Order: sequence, then C-alpha cells, then structure tokens
Amino acid sequence: MNKLEQLSEELKKDQKTWLVTGNAGFIGSNLTEFLLSNGQKVVGLDNFSTGYQHNIDDVLSQVGEESAKNFTFIEGDIADIETCQKACEGVDIILHQAALGSVPRSIDDPITSNRSNVTGFLNMITAAKDAGIKRFVYASSSSVYGDSKELPKVEGRTGNVLSPYAAMKATNELYGSVFQKVYGMETLGLRYFNVFGRRQDPNGAYAAVIPKWVGSLLTGEDVFINGDGETSRDFTYIDNVIQMNLLAGTTDNPEA
Ligand SMILES: NC(=O)c1ccc[n+]([C@@H]2O[C@H](COP(=O)([O-])OP(=O)(O)OC[C@H]3O[C@@H](n4cnc5c(N)ncnc54)[C@H](O)[C@@H]3O)[C@@H](O)[C@H]2O)c1
Repeated sequence: MNKLEQLSEELKKDQKTWLVTGNAGFIGSNLTEFLLSNGQKVVGLDNFSTGYQHNIDDVLSQVGEESAKNFTFIEGDIADIETCQKACEGVDIILHQAALGSVPRSIDDPITSNRSNVTGFLNMITAAKDAGIKRFVYASSSSVYGDSKELPKVEGRTGNVLSPYAAMKATNELYGSVFQKVYGMETLGLRYFNVFGRRQDPNGAYAAVIPKWVGSLLTGEDVFINGDGETSRDFTYIDNVIQMNLLAGTTDNPEA
C-alpha cells in the first residue's frame, strides 16, 4: 500500500468537514475530489476569477452521486470577511488554496493580486481563528526561496524575494507563524514547486508551462521553449500535493 492509499484508509475511518478554498481551480478541485472520494465532507469556496464551474462539475461526476451529497459550495470572494466567516461554519480543517497565481500577473497588477493573496489570506485565517478552527493549511510557494542558490532547499534558509507574488506568499508565512504564536493556531504553509496534473488550465497569458506545452502538442501547434536550454525547474505532480495537504491536515506530530 503506498502512502496515499494509507492516507485514504485512515480518512475513511473518521468523517471530518474540510473547507477547500479555490476549489474551482486546479489544485483545489483535485483536493476536493480526493476528500469526497474518501468519505469526507467538503465545503468549497471560490469566486471563479481563475477557476471554472466545469472543474466542480467534473469532480462531482467523478466521485459519484452519494459522495457528491457531502459537498456544498459557496460562490464568493475571500476579500470579503463575511464570506470567509460563513465558509468556516461547522468546519474542522481548512485547506486554503484560493489566490491569484503567477509571478508575471503579480508584476502586471500587484494590487489585484494582493487583494486575493494578502487581504483574502488574512480574512481567511482570521475567520478560522474566530470560528475556533485550529488547523489551517495553506498554499505557499517555492518563490519564497527567492534568489537563494542553495540546493537542495532547506525550509529555514530563504533568499530575498524577487516578485510581488513571492512577497505576498512570504507575507502569508509571516501571518501563519504569528497566528500560531499569538492565537495558538496550528498553521502549516506548503511551498509548492510548479505543480502539474489534471485540470490545470492550459489557456491564457499566465498559464503554466507544462499544460501549455501539452495543450500545444494536443492541437499540433509549435511548442516554445524560452531561454538557452540551461534553465532548470522543479516540478511536482498533483498527487504529491494532495498527499502533503492531507498529511498537513491530519498529522498530530507537533514538529510539523
Ligand atoms: N500551480 C502551481 O504550480 C502553484 C505553485 C505554487 C503555489 N501555488 C498556489 O497554490 C494555490 C492554488 O493554485 P492553482 O494552481 O490551483 O491555481 P488556480 O488558479 O487553478 O486556482 C486558484 C483558485 O482560487 C480562486 N480564487 C482566486 N482568488 C479568489 C478570491 N479572491 N476569492 C475566492 N476564490 C478565489 C480562483 O477562482 C481559482 O479557482 C494558489 O494559492 C497558488 O498561489 C500554485
């Protein structure tokens, strides 16, 4: 049995209610599908800024009618504190994924990204605290390592951030650690490295490279590789991201 199968066995023994923000997007829809498939209740919250109704529809058809009954959806914006408060009602664990991704987007329009990525984050974590939800798992980003050249990366050793997006994710981490110290919450930030997998959007100016290439290959278009061939990147498959979120959501190891 692999680790994901073990987690799925553990989950099935104990039904909890999870809030997955950004559930109409790529990572949030995959988390929702895994949780519903394993007997959990899920509340989804999304404003469809970069997510799609068809992702929600696909998840519900994948999990089947019985499991789909354990899903409720709130269409709303995390920049609105009342929406966040409503979403937290009756929730045990939060997997906070809603944000405007993409470094170039944040360079083009930092104010709009900040609204979702910092104001929205602070609203969500405050609503969680006020609702007495202790475990708050959130999507950080490898961009927090900034200009650090060190390999392999070590959590406590980051460089200077290089974009508004990275500054926003670093701010999330500061708030996460402060809410832990001041309010005794259990906050865990996960620094994703270029995630890829099913339901990732191949369209638009801010699409990630793997879905863009796969999309082009499927339609017989040219695939562009920028740079001189020396660029390297770390990529993470979506199932590993599901696994790390589930471990972060359920662990009772205080070191975590
Ligand atoms: N995909 C990656 O490689 C990657 C890497 C590092 C970090 N992340 C982070 O992971 C999270 C999920 O990313 P993704 O790739 O699934 O992106 P995505 O764009 O597919 O999903 C994000 C979802 O959040 C929703 N959202 C955005 N702002 C919102 C708001 N104000 N209110 C409510 N909903 C809102 C969008 O509509 C979308 O459905 C984000 O926090 C992102 O910054 C992703």
